[in-house]
Amino acid sequence: MPVGEPSNSWEQLQARMEAVPRLDLDAGSTPLHECATLTEDLQGPRVLIKRDDLTGRAFGGNKIRKLEYILQGVKERGADTIVVGAARQSNFCREISGCASKLGIEVVAYLRGTEPLSYEGNVLLDHIFGAKIFASDAQSWSELHREMYGAADVLSAQGRQVEVVTGFEPLGSLAYVNCAMEVSQQCASLGLEPTHVYLSSGTGTQAGLQVGFAALGMDVDVVGVGPMQHLEGYDSIPHRLSEVANWISAKLELSLNFAPENFQHTTAHVDGGYAHCGYETAEAIRTFGRREAILLDPVYTGKAMAALLAHSRQGRLGGSDTVVFLHTGGTPAMFASIEGARTNLGLEGSHLGAASMGSR
Ligand SMILES: Cc1ncc(COP(=O)(O)O)c(C=O)c1O
Repeated sequence: MPVGEPSNSWEQLQARMEAVPRLDLDAGSTPLHECATLTEDLQGPRVLIKRDDLTGRAFGGNKIRKLEYILQGVKERGADTIVVGAARQSNFCREISGCASKLGIEVVAYLRGTEPLSYEGNVLLDHIFGAKIFASDAQSWSELHREMYGAADVLSAQGRQVEVVTGFEPLGSLAYVNCAMEVSQQCASLGLEPTHVYLSSGTGTQAGLQVGFAALGMDVDVVGVGPMQHLEGYDSIPHRLSEVANWISAKLELSLNFAPENFQHTTAHVDGGYAHCGYETAEAIRTFGRREAILLDPVYTGKAMAALLAHSRQGRLGGSDTVVFLHTGGTPAMFASIEGARTNLGLEGSHLGAASMGSR
């Protein structure tokens, strides 16, 4: 637990959150479902799922909550163009393309990667939502940033009101205080106390959640599961999370003080690298899809579920535990070419159709 002041009531925390300006993109109040079939299979923890894959716009995901805060400022400052840069199958890019377009703001997107730019998964949606898309062969995030700021200068010189926006802004992660408040209320109405929350965690969602739980005085083990080993510019992901959590705490005048040690975070389920879908990830996607009829994604949430399943099978989670799995979205990437996904989902070399049906 972080060092800090005694807990706030739910209403006190809500009042602090309401003081921060926010657009309404229908992000909040996502359902919390029991995962009864998986729970029965595991014979261990009781598992529930918080459906942030169903945040209200642009195919959902954790960025819709974040964009309610980030786009509020962008709109207030009168921007007509946003420049973003991200990985090829970026969920952030898809979500901001949809939400900015709804506000009459054009998105210019630089999508980094070595593979050819093809209109599948998130990139197809970027196009439908009206983004201008460019393939970038930048070798690092800092190189990509130079490319984005260069484009912003050119567009500004043409008279556009331009902002460069990244998914990195701590203000976005503040939105996850709202999610912690929802989880607390939904669990209370079901008469249960969560012992753990599992989620895919790279840059800040976990920080917002933990500020929320700490501010409410809730003792929950939040377990972040890394989609990648390293975060450029940081010693470790917990270093980044403590920085963001302290920023949010200051913004809400909470005087909570977080250190990297306050974040449980594992990179043991990266499974081949960022944007690679290894066997363990594919197995988690198949298991959860078949037991709960809910789709996970191959880059983020599949890995987080792999950690939950592994911890349960290893006995690190047991019958007295109640786990809320936060589904942070990303499902359109399931409909794109993600390295390793076809092979590890068992599709390589199989043919659909009458011949294979007949030969079964
Ligand atoms: C589907 C999905 N889950 C989880 C994350 C990680 O979120 P954060 O960077 O806030 O930890 C991302 C970030 O891109 C994402 O797209």
